[in-house]
Amino acid sequence: MSNRVLVTGAAGYIGSHTVVELVKAGYEVVGVDDFANSTPDVLKGISSILGFEIPFVEADCSDMSSFSRVFEAYPDIDAAIHFAAFKAVGESVLKPVEYFRNNLMSLVNLIDLMRSRESGNIVFSSSCTVYGEPDEGALPISETARTKPALSPYGRTKQMCEDMLKDSVRAYGNIKVTALRYFNPIGAHPSALIGELPVGVPQNLVPYITQTAAGLRKELSIFGDDYDTPDGTCIRDYIYVCDLAKAHVRAVDRMLGADGERYELFNLGTGTGVSVLELVNEFKRVTGVDLPYKFAPRREGDIVKVWADASKANKILGWKADTPLGDVLLSAWNWEKKIRNL
Ligand code: UFG
Repeated sequence: MSNRVLVTGAAGYIGSHTVVELVKAGYEVVGVDDFANSTPDVLKGISSILGFEIPFVEADCSDMSSFSRVFEAYPDIDAAIHFAAFKAVGESVLKPVEYFRNNLMSLVNLIDLMRSRESGNIVFSSSCTVYGEPDEGALPISETARTKPALSPYGRTKQMCEDMLKDSVRAYGNIKVTALRYFNPIGAHPSALIGELPVGVPQNLVPYITQTAAGLRKELSIFGDDYDTPDGTCIRDYIYVCDLAKAHVRAVDRMLGADGERYELFNLGTGTGVSVLELVNEFKRVTGVDLPYKFAPRREGDIVKVWADASKANKILGWKADTPLGDVLLSAWNWEKKIRNL
């Protein structure tokens, strides 16, 4: 076994942090990205952290002729972590075909390329969005909770991909899958050499906060203050991207160690729910930076409250997301300052 892990979407937010953790854990990697939602500068950031350039192929995973070149160049791939996908909920409503083509075809191609190999280990990047709004009494939400019809084409692609993987495990004896359902990944590498790079106006809370603190945005709009939560704002489970990256290393360790079932599913969260207002106040506390905000109408399609029961991952993967929220928010702020030369 060569210990080589293919990382699709290696120049993306979670992909780049995972490449760093895989290399630190002793894995060989090969990264793939088409830079549809990232830039080659991310690879420079990874090189600066690691001290060398990772093996990398620029390819579009949804295009078989492009993607298959990776396996020709690196025939020793033992496992694949599949991040490459579009991920903007709102955009997916306007561009469903683009989301289906990219998110579904890239996985179809990956399974097709892996099914005839000796090692067919796939770690799939899924989302807690598959749970929809949890039923009363279902929080923290565990992997046994039923999934709900997706509220967006993006969410639907995650559900469809999980189903495609289950069918493939049944059909192809070498395919083994670990699906990881992420809650809300935030923060940046402590080096501030890689982090989240939203294109245009950020849709997600933490990049909007850091850009507002940096003076790029006038004020944060908090969407809704009249929800059925203690302070009226929505509750999420914010997980540090480096903790999340480490869970991928554990998942690969487990698969290559031939442990576990052929299809496994894990929630990756902290287990703690934090409201938008609590997050804003924690950001102000740890950074000492003022953050202008106003309350705005509810955002359509928002889940009111969701946080993870991550005990399965804690127990079986021997992993826990334990970086304090304040440290995570500081890492996000340090990254914002770095890219804005503040
Ligand atoms: N929010 C604001 N103002 C903003 C941005 C966000 O108040 O400017 C609020 C949202 O209303 C929500 C919370 O901050 O209550 C978190 O919003 P995000 O957009 O950061 O995250 P979401 O939980 O909506 O979505 C994220 C990912 C999706 C994933 C989903 C799963 O972006 O890809 O989690 O629940 F599918």
